[in-house]
Amino acid sequence: DDARAESKSAFTFEEVEAGIDEKHHVAAGYDADVLLRWGDGLFPDSPEFDPLNQTPESQAKQFGYNNDYVGYIPIDGSSEHGILVVNHEYTNEHLMFPGIVKVVEGKLEVSPADQKRVDIEMAAHGGTVVEIKKVDGKWQVVKDGKLNRRITANTEMQLSGPVAGHDRVKTNADSSGKKVFGMINNCSGGVTPWGTYVSGEENIHGYFLGKLPEDSKEAANYKRMGIPEGVYDWGNFHERFDVSKDPNEANRFGWVVEIDVNDPNSIPKKRTAMGRFKHEGADSIVAKDGRVVFYLGDDERFDYVYKFVTKGKFNPDDRAANLDLLDEGTLYVAKFDVDGTIAWLPVVFGEGPLTEANGFHSQADVLIETRRAGDLLGATKMDRPEDIGPNGVNGKVYVMLTNNTKRKDDQVDAVNPRAKNAFGHIVEIAEEDGNFAATKGKWEILLKCGDPSVADVGASFSTDTTKNGWFGMPDNCAVDADGRLWVSTDGNSPKETGRTDGIWAVDTDGPARATSKLFFRVPVGAEMCGPLMLPDMATMMVAVQHPGDGGEDWKGFGRPSYYEDLSTRWPDFKDNMPVRPSVLAITKKGGGKIAV
Ligand code: FEO
Ligand code: CA
Ligand code: CA
Ligand code: CA
Repeated sequence: DDARAESKSAFTFEEVEAGIDEKHHVAAGYDADVLLRWGDGLFPDSPEFDPLNQTPESQAKQFGYNNDYVGYIPIDGSSEHGILVVNHEYTNEHLMFPGIVKVVEGKLEVSPADQKRVDIEMAAHGGTVVEIKKVDGKWQVVKDGKLNRRITANTEMQLSGPVAGHDRVKTNADSSGKKVFGMINNCSGGVTPWGTYVSGEENIHGYFLGKLPEDSKEAANYKRMGIPEGVYDWGNFHERFDVSKDPNEANRFGWVVEIDVNDPNSIPKKRTAMGRFKHEGADSIVAKDGRVVFYLGDDERFDYVYKFVTKGKFNPDDRAANLDLLDEGTLYVAKFDVDGTIAWLPVVFGEGPLTEANGFHSQADVLIETRRAGDLLGATKMDRPEDIGPNGVNGKVYVMLTNNTKRKDDQVDAVNPRAKNAFGHIVEIAEEDGNFAATKGKWEILLKCGDPSVADVGASFSTDTTKNGWFGMPDNCAVDADGRLWVSTDGNSPKETGRTDGIWAVDTDGPARATSKLFFRVPVGAEMCGPLMLPDMATMMVAVQHPGDGGEDWKGFGRPSYYEDLSTRWPDFKDNMPVRPSVLAITKKGGGKIAV
């Protein structure tokens, strides 16, 4: 019964009713206030957002599109004044630009881009670094914050680490192989113990078009990454995104980017030692011996879980001494064995099959083709690894595996136990001796997701989980200061689950293990990103991505253009305003710790 569940769970809040409508909903007794919307100004001279007169120049001074990862770097240790960092993963043209969409025979048709639209899209990608402050219990943006910064697909960056300067990353524009412009499709990320912002480049394949030259040595490499997919029209206006014209540019994307937020003019660094794949998050934790461990997911069906362990140790007394820790270390890929053990296999040139015989001539080659290295090492093919959250309180690590409907019956294994896995699962890792830098450990499944009332789904939520409390498609996660797990989802829809995406609080320890409760839910068509609990646990930041988006099956919800009959205009609800991806700050009415 509910009362019993309440008492056993580590979370004290009254659950939200699962469902779907045009608004967001948070648990009773909490406020969820819009902090930053797409188009909001970030600088004193930012132009007002004008959806009918967008320009690349104005967008570059405004909050970008499709906020995903949200991180916070305290100023002087404060949980009420700090630097917010936000990824702008991608753009939805049909929701951004009026009049470019037609429905032809029931299918969405988006008119081809022109240069201006492409340049707006590029400016809407990347990231935001912005000072924020809590005043009288409410968060506000400090527009004249000296560290405020927009990172876009045009920001100058540096390739650093083993791949920097390699022939395979030299391009028409850059004979040094070190100078890159922009980061793209930055999904999740992290904040390092030394207070920098790290951000994962995920689905980079969609930004490249054209055909590789016949004699290109990158054919197998690009095929393994799905490059080029040609979703965006950028390559028609910027040669570097056309692989027929600049065949190496795509090797300069698919990395973890580190941004030193303390210097708004710092050149972001693509940390190649952490591998090249479709990076999801980069959450980290300091191991017992002071080395820093980053957990990295490669979000594709049948791809891998990684971790990177720095060679050097974190120095808490000297920030500058940590600033290049990410250039040296060991990348490992995970092999989950049937007996419940996990082996972390080094992705290191010269070890095992990673040799000349397999076409690798250096660590740079291994890193550029990290996925092929994982294939050769026999890593375990997972159900789309998304965020991975190390928990410093209980010593465990949580891996979000969002789904994999393509897994066949004969491809089922112990750690990916369901064929046609539509709803995903969460794996819990215990590193050996509680040492996050260990090369082995144990694993078990915390939770198989989906509707527990449908036997065929095979979900494993506790029986205390209510009809509102179950979810599918875990995507992002956060561990709060008390070591409690919060999960956000991507893909719950009326069709599949009768509910929108949201934030669920999931018990990992004690008698309530595998109990889940709905804390927040998004408006129709949106995906849930973030979440982030601030250190004092009095604020949770959440990111609502692509509100109003939707498929043809949604009948009346999520129509393709806000000029048509879109059923939400979240968050402004004005006729002349499109839907706007936004970051919200959740606080308890009257203040205090969340769900405690
Ligand atoms: Fe951008 Fe793996 O989600
Ligand atoms: Ca994700
Ligand atoms: Ca997502
Ligand atoms: Ca996802």
